[in-house]
Formats: sequence, C-alpha cells, structure tokens
Amino acid sequence: AWLPPAAFRAVGSRRALVCGAGTLVGTVRDELAQACARYGGTVAWRPGPGPVDGTGDVDLVLALTAATPLPAPVAEVAAQCRRHHGAGALGAEGFALARTGDVTVVLAEEPAGLLHGLFHVVRLGESAFGAARGPERHRPAMRLRMLDHWDNVDVHPVMGQVERGYAGGSIFWRDGSPRGDPARVRDYGRLLAACGVNAVSANNVNVHATEARLLTDRLGDVAAIADVLRPYGIRVHLSVTFAAPVVLGGLPTADPLDAGVRAWWAATTRQVYDRIPDFGGYVVKADSEGQSGPFTYGRSHADGANLLADTLAPFRGVVHWRAFVYDHRQDWRDRSTDRARAAFDHFAPHDGRFAPNVVLQVKHGPMDFQAREPVSPVLAAMPATRLAVEVQVTQEYTGQQRHVCYLAPWWSEVLRFAPWGDHRTVAALAAGDAGEGGGLVGVSNAGDDPFWTGHPLAQANLYAFGRLAWDPRLDPAAVLDEWIGLTFPPGPASGHDLVRRTLHEMMDGSWRTYERYTAPLGVGFMVRPGHHYGPDVDGYEYTPWGTYHFADRDGVGVDRTRASGTGFTGQYPQPWRDVYESLDRCPDELLLFFHHVPYGHVLHDGSTVIQHIYNTHFAGAEEVAALRRRWDRLDGLLDPGLHTRVRERLDEQVRCAEEWRDQVNAYFFRKSGVPDARGRRIP
Ligand code: GCU
Repeated sequence: AWLPPAAFRAVGSRRALVCGAGTLVGTVRDELAQACARYGGTVAWRPGPGPVDGTGDVDLVLALTAATPLPAPVAEVAAQCRRHHGAGALGAEGFALARTGDVTVVLAEEPAGLLHGLFHVVRLGESAFGAARGPERHRPAMRLRMLDHWDNVDVHPVMGQVERGYAGGSIFWRDGSPRGDPARVRDYGRLLAACGVNAVSANNVNVHATEARLLTDRLGDVAAIADVLRPYGIRVHLSVTFAAPVVLGGLPTADPLDAGVRAWWAATTRQVYDRIPDFGGYVVKADSEGQSGPFTYGRSHADGANLLADTLAPFRGVVHWRAFVYDHRQDWRDRSTDRARAAFDHFAPHDGRFAPNVVLQVKHGPMDFQAREPVSPVLAAMPATRLAVEVQVTQEYTGQQRHVCYLAPWWSEVLRFAPWGDHRTVAALAAGDAGEGGGLVGVSNAGDDPFWTGHPLAQANLYAFGRLAWDPRLDPAAVLDEWIGLTFPPGPASGHDLVRRTLHEMMDGSWRTYERYTAPLGVGFMVRPGHHYGPDVDGYEYTPWGTYHFADRDGVGVDRTRASGTGFTGQYPQPWRDVYESLDRCPDELLLFFHHVPYGHVLHDGSTVIQHIYNTHFAGAEEVAALRRRWDRLDGLLDPGLHTRVRERLDEQVRCAEEWRDQVNAYFFRKSGVPDARGRRIP
C-alpha cells in the first residue's frame, strides 16, 4: 500500500537520532532502523538524558521535548516553538518540523506526536531535507480519528465475514476465531498510523451472538488486537449490544435505569480496563435495524448512552452512540413518515442531555451513505453534544470496490459545508472548540485481500480518510497526489510522471462520474436490494425501508418541503431551510432529494430533468470507458498483478456503468414517454 520500502528511501539513507523513551518512541526507532538497514543510513537512540555518540553528526533528529538535555538544533526548535505558540503547543499527537543548519528536526511533546512526525517526514521524502524548509507545526484537527470495522467473528449467513466488506475476509477474524495473523494486524496499524488514524473498532455494529461475547469471555481476543496496534498509537474500541446484560449477564432486563443493569455494566467495564488499560470505549447501534436499545424499556437514547458513558468515565473511555435510528418497517403509502427526518427527530430534542464522554456518531447524510445527499441536519442541531461525523470508506453504495470512486472530494464537500452559511463548517463541529469534538469515523474498507482493499485504487480512500480527519482543509487532489507518491514511488524505470498524471485523470473526478451513471439528482438508492450492487430503479420502491423516489408518468423526486411535503427542510437552520425549500434555489444535484418535479422541469443549466438524466447517464458510461482506456497506458509500468487486478475491475465497471445507463434511461423514457432530444439509442 502506501508504505513500500522505497517510500523510506530518503529517511533510510540519512543519519538519524531518536531522543526519548516509551513504546511509541521504540516504534519510531525500529521504523528508522529498518529503513536504514535497507538504504545505508544509521540510527542512534538516546532514551534518557546524556549525549550519545554521533549527536553532533546527524541529518535527522526526532526528539521528545522531555528528552533533556536536547541536542543543540532541537533545543533551538523547541525554543522557537515555545516563543511562537507557547508551551504545550504540540499537544498529545502534534509535532513541529524544522530545518536548522543541515539538520531536519522533528519535535513532539508526546510519543504519538513523534510517530506522526516520522511519517510526515516519510511523506515529504527528499524535500524534508531541502535547505529551504520553513518551520512547520502540525496538530490533528480532530482528536478522534476512528475506523469502524463491520467485521463479524463468525461468518454471518447473509453478510459473511465482513458486513459490506469488499476486500476479502477480515483482518482480525476468520470462521469464528481470531485470524492469528498479528503481522497482518501490525502492518495494518502501520498503514493507519501513517495516514493519521488513531482508533479502531474491531467488530461489526450489528452485534450478533458470538460477537457479543467479545465484551466478556472472549475479551482476550480483543486484548490481543490491542497489543498489536498499541505500538502504532491506535486504541481499540468495541461494538457492544445494548442487550448485553440480558444476553451475557443473564439479567431479566437491560433497562438503563435499572440498578442491577448499571452494576453489571460497571463491573464488566472494569474488567475490560483491567485487561486493556488503554481501551478506547464502546460503539453502540441501538434501536436500529433490529438491534435492541433503550426504546424497548421506554427510555430515551440519552438514558441509554449515559449509562454506558458513566461506566466508561472513570477510565476516560468514550461511548460512540450512533444516530442511525429510523423506522425500517414503514409503508410506502404512508407519506407522513420520512426516513430522512428520523435522526433529527430522535436526537435533537435531547441536545444537552448527553454526558461529556458520549460521542453522538452521525452519518454524514440523513439517509445512508449515498453518492449524493445533503449534509445531515443533526450536525447543526446539537451544539451541546459531542458530535462525530461518520463516512463510509467501504464503498457499499459507491461501487463496492469494483468501481473506481475516489471519495475524498465528496467527504471534503461534506466537511467544508457551512450549515449556517458562515465560517462554521461541519469539520469545525466535528473537531470541537479545543479538539474536544467527536471527530471523524469511517467504516473501513480494508480486508485480507493482498491489495488490502480489493480494488487497489480504493486504498486511496482509506489513506484520504485518515488525512482528512487529521486536516479537513487538505485538498483531495493533493491528498491523492501524496498517496500516489508514496504508493508508486519513482523508481529507476521511467514513466513515473505518466503514472501520476494517469491516476489523477482517472481518480480526481471519479466520484462525480459514478454519480452521473447512477441515481440522478440526489434521489439516491435505485440499487439492487440486499447486496446493493448494480441498478434496480424500483428495487426499493415498494419495500419497507423508506428509500423511495416516487417516480410516475409525470415526475420524480421526494417532496420534503414544509409547504407541501414531509417538512424535512425545516430541520435546517437558515440559509439552508429556505434554500432547500425553494425550487429555484435548491442546488440541482439535490433537486430530487427535496422536491418532486415534472420531467420537464428546467434545471439551472437550462436542460430539463429528463434530458439531464439521459445526458448524465450517457456521459457517465463514456467516462468509464475512458478510464478503462487510460489504464492501458500504464501496462508495463506497474506491478503486473496490480495492473491486472485493476484492469479486471475496470472491465466490470464498464459493464456495470452501461447497465446503469441503460436501466435508468429506459426506465425514465418508458415512464415519461419523452424521447432523448439527441436521439441516442435507449434500449
Ligand atoms: C446500512 C448497511 C448496513 C449497516 C447499516 C448501519 O444500512 O446496509 O449493513 O448495518 O447501514 O450503518 O448500521
């Protein structure tokens, strides 16, 4: 992936000195030692006070501020940093980077910062040692940068080993047991640390019978994962079932206000921390899609979340409580129920009632990880609650890692969205005032596939997730460029520029291409029910899941206005409540999410809705054909196995995009009776 040996060429050929002690400092030293063994550099380590040989003769120093006396160049950087930013300016994970004389210095207050600093230097490559580097300070915008694994321990009869997993089996589990492959888990931890992730939840949010026991008699399995990830600064969290006191503890109830239930959770949590002292906390999907929750006992989600928060608080753990709560047994005839409204209706009234160590984990959109949705109004409605934004790195609805779909531009749009139309962005909400927010959570797309993510180019999504969680202001194209530079480092063979250029051409706009050939104008779904791959326009139209487009012979779209629809627009603050309400002002890409319009409705670009559907679907499929052709240019320049894997996936993407084009176009042609103005063939 993005840490091939060659990515370490620049650091590995230098004389490095590491100052400081602790597990993570040891990791820094070991990483450097490995790189130096390959590329001829040297690494010295000074764990405690006092000089070591070679202190005066180095190219790179990585030091903790506490490792006094600091070698001269480091002391200079430390003083500079204090002068400009004050003491404690680097925080638990930040670092400073500077060039003084001929030495590159990385300075951190805590070991995790040193590790992130090392990977930053790796990312910079030779330019980290260029004379002209000015001083830099880096701190993560979000304190919690977590990947949720929807991995099952047992193979689930429908969902398999990994729910919505498109990268083979699980990194952690196989057929009911731990995989027993710590090297693989360790490599994964390295990759995550190198892009900035610092937490992992090791099992599916849908907690089945075996997985429930990870909390109790199978806790050792979780501890083993935590042991392997710890040297990379990654804390382990666990998805638990709200019914645990009943299913594991044999109690008659899981009522969050029941004293016995509270005592059970307290004792159980204490045992977890006895075993895993740096355990991160619990992830809970409650009262959602069949999972049990506080509603069963007539209690609120604040009651439920606070129960677990109280038991975690003495250990400084957090509970990630998911806001993905909605009625999945509705009647398509019932136009008063709107799934998009559900999270706000359930949670917003409880703002201010959640304990400080509850992180309310909100999917970025009000529905379910579609290729286009508005930003969830919950994010603007709970100023007194710690909020995390949840994105889906695994491509459940965006091509399932068979299609090229670089998602960072989409996440970046979400993170830059300003719910009040002012300087306050979604990223700022997730970050919190002093980094105290809930952060960013992504559903992982990695598995035991040799390329980690099934589609080798889907690695870029995992990498970009971490980088955007660290710094949401990063430009997605620049992040992609980093990923390309690390993953396909320039070698002796020529052609690196062509690789870089081709990957940008293929990936920069791939999310919009995907959007073009799938569900139009923000209406969403239209996927095959169950597995969610490929087109089925009416597949979900008469099901209980609440995912409708309401197409008929006259028009299409969901009326979510206050004037005549479900009133969902009213969940937004100004200016969006009025922008989305207005047929004229609503952005085209969300038109059918908010409005039901006739096919002849004219969009801002002057085309009608029906013509837009035809145009984008023809264009989207053509763009995919162009992707496929571009990839051929790289034949012979990349690892043959990787090249072949991507080519096979592109063949499938071409086929599937054509299928989408034909099904969607034919469906709307037949409904509307309006022919394509450009006379193209619609089957
Ligand atoms: C989607 C997905 C499920 C998942 C759920 C969730 O509905 O299809 O597999 O369990 O999201 O986020 O909880």
